Amino acid sequence: MRVLGIETSCDETGIAVYDHEQGLLAHALYSQVAVHAEYGGVVPELASRDHVRKILPLIDQVMAQAQTSPAQLDGIAYTAGPGLIGALMVGASVGRALAYGWQIPALGVHHMEGHLLAPMLEAHPPEFPFVALLVSGGHTQLVAVQSLGDYTLLGESLDDAAGEAFDKAAKMLDLDYPGGPHIAKLAERGQPGRFTFPRPMVDRPGLDFSFSGLKTHTLNTVAEHAGADGLPDEQTCADIALAFQTAVVSTLVIKCRRALEQTGMRTLVIAGGVSANTQLRAELRSALEKIGAEVFYARHEFCTDNGAMIAYAGCQRLLAGQREPLGVTVRARWPLDSLERINRS
Ligand code: KG4
Ligand code: ZN
Repeated sequence: MRVLGIETSCDETGIAVYDHEQGLLAHALYSQVAVHAEYGGVVPELASRDHVRKILPLIDQVMAQAQTSPAQLDGIAYTAGPGLIGALMVGASVGRALAYGWQIPALGVHHMEGHLLAPMLEAHPPEFPFVALLVSGGHTQLVAVQSLGDYTLLGESLDDAAGEAFDKAAKMLDLDYPGGPHIAKLAERGQPGRFTFPRPMVDRPGLDFSFSGLKTHTLNTVAEHAGADGLPDEQTCADIALAFQTAVVSTLVIKCRRALEQTGMRTLVIAGGVSANTQLRAELRSALEKIGAEVFYARHEFCTDNGAMIAYAGCQRLLAGQREPLGVTVRARWPLDSLERINRS
């Protein structure tokens, strides 16, 4: 089965062709970062308009790269939520219209299921069951994954998502959006131990997260050391970036360990934009080694939003026989644990 994947839930247009026998045939991403840069965050209306401009040329390009004609496609998968409603509508209506024209099925995919399954595209994929840590700009969730579509929420952020916290901390340090990669880069020059930031909620039982206290602590530290231009000196900014990143990473590591112990599982999958973070990957690897567990993640470009993960997830569901009515339905909010469990023999 060969599936065209379309991702338009936020500020990147991602397109891919995945074949369940041959693997990923082609993929491309157009990032709108430059469009939103001057606003310090994603402007939903601008995002929708840019998806409209880029989606069809990108589909043409990827189909050509994959040497795939419409007649060779068996289905189209598009992100149906959660995300920005206007942006989602672009991918959903194009996906549905093309599928109708080409007389193949189309399926709406859950964006976080896409992230969660992205490590399956790697040469050494994880095996079920596993615990997934989903850390993106909009979500921080720990999920017990028994099989495809069988997801139980173990814990989540009570306020900001981990990626959102990175973005806000970056803004305080006058770094560009999205802030995660910029904080990570600045943190490389940070002096370990100069600041120690609080690890929110680690001394309380349970698997929920909270990042708002850490955000306030970061803001206060920036203000305390600010010079005439409102910012601390360069080295202090790097030290703050490192202290902030270390606090987020340790919190995530502690909760992941706890989730593995609680479920008795030995495999952890990390997915979503923040899973690209090098310090997070390294600290998880060494913490998990100690308890005989292993961590899996996608290659860098498939940690953040992309079409490949949507093509893959849609392909699995189409292979299992899942079909949907013709209507274009998208959802800004969509609980991951409400998905249909799929049985593939
Ligand atoms: O999954 P994603 O591309 O989009 C959403 O579904 O939200 O995640 C984007 C988030 C942003 O908040 C970004 O700052 C963060 O992932 N991010 C990172 C890194 N790369 C991206 N955070 C920390 N370290 C990184 N290297
Ligand atoms: Zn995402």
